[in-house]
Amino acid sequence: MTSETSERPMRAAIMTMSDTGSRGKRADTSGDRIAEFLGDMHADVVDRVLIPDDRDQIRRHLCRLADESRVDLILTTGGTGLAPRDVTPDVTAEVVDYQALGMAEAMRAYGIQKTPFGMLSRQVVGVRGRTLIVNLPGSPRAVAECLEVLRPVLAHAVELIRGTTVDHDPPMAKG
Ligand code: MTE
Repeated sequence: MTSETSERPMRAAIMTMSDTGSRGKRADTSGDRIAEFLGDMHADVVDRVLIPDDRDQIRRHLCRLADESRVDLILTTGGTGLAPRDVTPDVTAEVVDYQALGMAEAMRAYGIQKTPFGMLSRQVVGVRGRTLIVNLPGSPRAVAECLEVLRPVLAHAVELIRGTTVDHDPPMAKG
């Protein structure tokens, strides 16, 4: 890439929303997948929480990580479907300043190619302050598939939100 990018490593946080996981009844495999991915991206994982599908707790952690910890990126997993307690996308939409519809639609479009159930995720992507918030579905397989979609654009998206990049050529357009 020819763009001038800051050398500061990406600071990231992981949030897993799961009623059963938060009661210690299920291992957080999806959170582990995200942590591996962030390691590959040379990001620093500065926080990780496993909480129930509870609106207040989700809101509190999203706001804390964006406003106080000021992480570049929050990757959430779980609670994006159609069940009554699947509230992650609703809370995310409430707390972001603006949505990044293309990223959410790209993940959903790829998911639908893999399984028709891909259309059941209401995942949202958006920006609060200088923090990119990305909802991923709950299953480890869905997490892996969605992260595959994000991989080529994530670093550039974070740089754009930081306001430190001077070249807006999309990474995929090169060579
Ligand atoms: N997206 C991808 N890429 N791959 C998947 O296997 N599973 C779907 C969907 N999105 C899936 C996917 C299923 S089965 C559901 S119910 C919804 O995500 C919502 O999942 P969640 O409630 O665990 O967030």
